[in-house]
Amino acid sequence: MTLPEQKQLWFEHYKTGAQQLEKAANIKGLVSAFNANIDAVVKLTGAEIKKLIQAVGADESDLMLEKHNSIKRPEDALRGLIKCFGNGIAEEWIIENEQTFLTLLELLGTEKLQMGGQGGIVANVAAVCGVNPVYVHAASLPKEQAGLFLNLPNLKSFTDDGKAMQVSLMERKSDIPLIHYIIEFDKDDRITVNGKKVTCPKANRFIATYDPLNLKLEIDPAFDRAMASGKFEYDYLILSGYQLLQEKLPNGKSGTERIDESVEKIKVWRKNAKEHILHFEVASTQDKIIRKKLVDVFGNFADSIGVNERELIDIMEVIDKPDLADSCNAHTHSVNLFSALVEAFAYMNVARIQLHMFGLYITIQRKGFKLKPLQNRNGMQTAALVAAAKASTGALNSAYVLLAAQHKKVSDVGISELNDLAAYIDAAYGRNELRETGIFYHKDFDVIAVPTIIIEKPVTLVGMGDTISSVSLIGASL
Ligand code: GLC
Repeated sequence: MTLPEQKQLWFEHYKTGAQQLEKAANIKGLVSAFNANIDAVVKLTGAEIKKLIQAVGADESDLMLEKHNSIKRPEDALRGLIKCFGNGIAEEWIIENEQTFLTLLELLGTEKLQMGGQGGIVANVAAVCGVNPVYVHAASLPKEQAGLFLNLPNLKSFTDDGKAMQVSLMERKSDIPLIHYIIEFDKDDRITVNGKKVTCPKANRFIATYDPLNLKLEIDPAFDRAMASGKFEYDYLILSGYQLLQEKLPNGKSGTERIDESVEKIKVWRKNAKEHILHFEVASTQDKIIRKKLVDVFGNFADSIGVNERELIDIMEVIDKPDLADSCNAHTHSVNLFSALVEAFAYMNVARIQLHMFGLYITIQRKGFKLKPLQNRNGMQTAALVAAAKASTGALNSAYVLLAAQHKKVSDVGISELNDLAAYIDAAYGRNELRETGIFYHKDFDVIAVPTIIIEKPVTLVGMGDTISSVSLIGASL
């Protein structure tokens, strides 16, 4: 098969997208918890970063050092930003005190605000896809936060007296806004720091987060009561937000204890709910004790797990696979990442795990899982379409933009990653048709791999993973 033929074949596969989105209305509810926050998005050029360094009066030699991944002073935010810029990677660091946050607020402003947090982003995208109802948890719900939820009647949270209400119309007056700075930068941009020229290899972002509530996984009691009541039905329970936890919390408590406490609550929700799929979105978790705990807890509790390439490599670090982590770091391609995915799948006792990497999504799942391989492929294609629409338009605020990229073909890099993976699986596991169908039926598990559409100059990349993981499920209806 030639490259144009293979791309045409995938273009045909992708045509189910519109139909899958229509079927989203048949889903009987989706719950998205826990983290919703306000993202303040700032795009910076190398030259602008240089100006910030001067404004802060930072010592440039200090900015090039590897130190703690947290923000105790404004200089630390610059250090993290330069690290991400120079490596073309995404990281999120926590701002540890209010004074530093206020300094950054003054330097960076709040010009562009949008929905942030996996929980909030998943809720908005599920609602705009037509899932009805979507129940979303918000640790804090001042007017500024409520206004970032889409103005849709199917997107709800719970009032104190246990009623489901459209969340964009709600307001908890004494709550504070939780602001995360998303600092984006472009590929090929340059900066000179401490006499050293740094060129950005890939458009990406650095996140500086000030969020005293989600940081300790604060759970809204009204939401917890409503979920525990068993009165509200759902097919999907999507959990995220745990990545912000640290083992030593500012209030003296331990992050692992908070994980256990939340899981006890969720066990009650699930006991009182009908059959559903629990998906856990790992997200970039800096604290290794928390990361390990999450892998162990949700590995035995969730049905489905979502990771990007970085998060998968980070998992290798804590399940004692340092060599695999190293090879994935050295060559971050589908073959190495697939090996890591197989290890993660073997370590965790989950039925399904999905990786979203640059150009390709890969799912491994147990034989007989509720969502059959072809359903998964449909879901993953729908996710790729919606993600491309998000990247090219910047926001998924209305249903009609969801298919904005449906005329586009999958990327060359996606096809090449897919073909490399297929060749590897041919040799390691046996003949397969991944190149043509994206599906490989192994005797012990099924693999689904979908090459994706890539938008050359994305308006935004933040929240992409959350969108992909959730729409892969939402779009997988029969
Ligand atoms: C993290 C950040 C949040 C951002 C999200 C996107 O949760 O804290 O600000 O919106 O990632 O995935």
